[in-house]
Order: sequence, then structure tokens, then C-alpha cells
Amino acid sequence: MFSEIYYFSGTGNCLATARMINEKLIEKSSIVPISSIDGKQKIKADWIGFVFPVYCHKLPDIVKQFILRLEFTSSPYIYAVATNNGEPGQSLFDIQKLLTKKGQSLSLGIAIEMPGNAIETPFDIEHKRLTEMEQKVTEIAELIKVQKKGIIEGNNSLIELIRNQIVGFLAWNYIFSPKRYKVSDNCTGCGTCEKVCPINNIHLLNHKPIWGNKCATCLACFHWCPQEAIYDNIFIKKRRKYHHPDIRINDMFLQKP
Ligand SMILES: Cc1cc2nc3c(=O)[nH]c(=O)nc-3n(C[C@H](O)[C@H](O)[C@H](O)COP(=O)(O)O)c2cc1C
Repeated sequence: MFSEIYYFSGTGNCLATARMINEKLIEKSSIVPISSIDGKQKIKADWIGFVFPVYCHKLPDIVKQFILRLEFTSSPYIYAVATNNGEPGQSLFDIQKLLTKKGQSLSLGIAIEMPGNAIETPFDIEHKRLTEMEQKVTEIAELIKVQKKGIIEGNNSLIELIRNQIVGFLAWNYIFSPKRYKVSDNCTGCGTCEKVCPINNIHLLNHKPIWGNKCATCLACFHWCPQEAIYDNIFIKKRRKYHHPDIRINDMFLQKP
């Protein structure tokens, strides 16, 4: 039996979740960063998992594009886990639709609440979610082990779809533009932002970061900056920095293409 878990992560929630699922499965998986793979990906595994963060109630575009590039030679058991800050929205239904187009089906789609990396989660709730994570992942792994089918969590109503079209348009065209980032005088030009960006969208110019146009909006640069020098004036401003406590910065470098 060959098993793979594909993940994308800006602040480690998804990587920590993917690793924990793997620990609890009997058949061990390869844990593969989505952003490290350019081009097409042939799927030979019997079990496939996707672990991703919810962005604006939807599947992140980087995950969507990756799924569209997958080439299947058989019909594996497919599950997906959406880490989120309380609003998984249509993200798991997005995956289901993409897989259907490829002649595959999503058997299990589970949402797990984690600390938010965009809107700040109050400290006590963040602590509770991290404390309960292992129990929740154990429950998810039990469902995967028995190849559970027919559960897709979230909201696929017409109102949700219309809302997400409008919010998505505003978000991706105005709020989440990489042009919004600013760097304070605290920046030492250490290059952590450049190194941590999973899609190589940041380059240093005169020891200061410059963002290109293909931002995945994962907020890795903002949260992992050791000087807390990156901020914006629109959405995240100077919110409290976060990364999953089990994830180190070196783990994030695994995602580089
Ligand atoms: C651009 C952006 C949009 C987000 N939108 C949502 C959302 O619609 N619903 C939600 O519950 N969480 C949302 N989040 C929070 C993340 O999904 C959540 O914190 C996730 O666990 C982060 O995973 P990571 O640490 O692996 O990057 C958003 C985060 C970002 C960066």
C-alpha cells in the first residue's frame, strides 16, 4: 500500500496536521509540499490526502492549480483536511468539484479549527484549539483508516457561493495584493522572508524585501519575520505573530520549489 499526503502551509498548521495524521495511520505516507512541485504530478499512490488552509472560505489557488495538474492512473482513496479559523466555507466542496472533473471523487472532507493566521484568534481559543488538536486528528485518522466515505464538511449553499464570489473578488483584487506589504525600520535585511516564501515571490533589493506579483497570500513572510518588521495597513496590520508551536522555520524551507 502506497500513501501520500500533499500539503500547503504558511504558518505550520497544515504541516503539523499532515505530520500528526501520518503518525496515526498504520500505513505511513510520504508528506509532500505542494509548492515544491512544478508541472504535472503523476499519482501512483493508493491513498491520497490533501491538507490545506482555507482562504476566504475557499480552496487556495495554489492547491487548486496543483489538483488540476494531477495525472491519475487509477482511483485512489482520497481525503482532504481543511485547517481553518472557524469558517471552512466551500473549500472542501471546491476539491470535490475539481476531483470530479478529473474522474475521481473526494471520499472524506474534514474541517479542523486551528489558530487563525489572518484574523487573529483570541489567545484562550487559540490555546484550546492547539490543546484539542491531537484528539481531533486522532478522530480524523480513524475515519481515514476505515476509508470512510460520504462526509464533506463546510457550506455549499447558493448564498455561500454568491457571497464567496463577491468577497473573493474584493479580497484577491484589493485586500490581498502583495503590493500592500510594508517593512518597518526594524528590518535588518536578514532575508528570512525571502527564504520562507514557499513560492519564491520575495527578493531582497538593497537589503529590503520586494514582493513579486504571484503572492500565495499565505502570510509566511509576515509571521516568520524575526524582527516583526513586515506589516500592512489594510487587513493584518501589526497583529500578533503566530506559527504552529511544533513547526520550526527549517520545516518551512521544505516547501521551496
Ligand atoms: C488569506 C487568508 C484567508 C483566510 N481565510 C479564512 C477563511 O475564510 N476561513 C477561515 O476559517 N480561516 C481563514 N484563514 C485562516 C487559515 O485558514 C488558518 O489559520 C489555517 O490554519 C492556516 O494554515 P497554515 O498555518 O498551514 O498556513 C485565512 C488565512 C489567510 C492567510
